[in-house]
Parts: sequence; structure tokens; C-alpha cells
Amino acid sequence: MLAVSYRITVGNWHSARRDATAIRAEVFVREQHVPRELELDARDADSIHALAYDGILAIGTGRLLPDAHIGRMAVRKPYRRRGVGSLLLEALLAEARRRGDGEVVLAAQLHAIPFYRRHGFVAEGAVFLDAGIEHITMRQLPPRTA
Ligand SMILES: CC(C)(COP(=O)(O)OP(=O)(O)OC[C@H]1O[C@@H](n2cnc3c(N)ncnc32)[C@H](O)[C@@H]1OP(=O)(O)O)[C@@H](O)C(=O)NCCC(=O)NCCS
Repeated sequence: MLAVSYRITVGNWHSARRDATAIRAEVFVREQHVPRELELDARDADSIHALAYDGILAIGTGRLLPDAHIGRMAVRKPYRRRGVGSLLLEALLAEARRRGDGEVVLAAQLHAIPFYRRHGFVAEGAVFLDAGIEHITMRQLPPRTA
């Protein structure tokens, strides 16, 4: 289903911090039981952050690191499978293209492989554990120019 009514913002950590932190606490810490101290790291200040809103309610988030890694993709449970994650991912990929990143890389939880595959990411290498959750590296190659 097309998520025409959702608003996406892209900004720095200063502007994203409050809403992104609340969504991550709900999704990663409370739902997925990731220890809070592992969810927090020092990379946020250097990253570009996307947020999704339904009216004034923040419903999803994700970040693009300076090294072209996308991470911390999270959509509040009642809003999943409505295209919100795709809007967030597309916004971050557009930022990566705009600043000239070549390949974009991420560590996908295994359940999310179909989601990222749908956006052109290809899995590589072996499954590994991060915060006790199985992940696999996925890479999106830049579009080929003729
Ligand atoms: C992964 C996540 C961000 C996807 O967000 P979303 O808003 O549900 O994604 P979308 O609605 O844009 O999904 C688009 C497509 O991706 C695929 N997809 C999304 N979630 C999927 C799932 N759990 N299983 C299989 N396919 C899935 C589907 O093809 C879907 O299209 P469809 O609903 O028309 O079939 C969301 O499920 C989430 O926050 N999960 C919990 C946190 C998490 O695990 N984050 C990922 C860390 S790597």
C-alpha cells in the first residue's frame, strides 16, 4: 500500500534526537530486547537521520553514516507494512546519492532481508551476531552507467 499521507524529514542528530531515541527505545530496546547501552553509540552525531511522521506522531527512523552505512531502521509496530520503512530507506539512499556515496552497505536482521532486497540490496558473506541478533551484510551497488 502506498503511504501517501506520511511525512519524511531528513536532518542532523540535533533535530532528530528526541524522536529517533523514542522510536528506537520502543522498537529495539523494548520489542527486540537490545540492551540500551548497545543501542546507543557515538555515531549519531555524525550521521544523517530520517524520520517519518503521521501528523505530529513520529513513527519511524533510520540513519546514514558518513561511511555510507545505513542503520537503525525502525518503524513502530502498528505502522509496519504500510510503506513507511521504504520511504525512510529511499530518503536515506537519496542523501547517499546526492553526496556521491558509491555503494551503500547495511547489516540486515534476517527477517528484514526481503525488505532490503526489494530496494536492490544483495546479501553477502556469513551470518553474524550483533546484540545477540542474527544479521547479514547487504550491499546496494550504484546504478551502472552505459
Ligand atoms: C524492517 C522495517 C524497518 C520495515 O519497515 P516497513 O515500514 O514495515 O516496510 P515497508 O512497509 O516499506 O515494506 C516494504 C516491503 O518490504 C517487504 N517487507 C517488509 N517487512 C517485511 C517482513 N517482516 N517480512 C517480509 N517482507 C517484508 C515487503 O515486500 C514489503 O512490501 P509489502 O508489504 O507490499 O509486501 C520494520 O519491519 C521494522 O521496523 N522492524 C523492526 C526493527 C528492525 O528489525 N529493523 C531492521 C534492522 S536491520
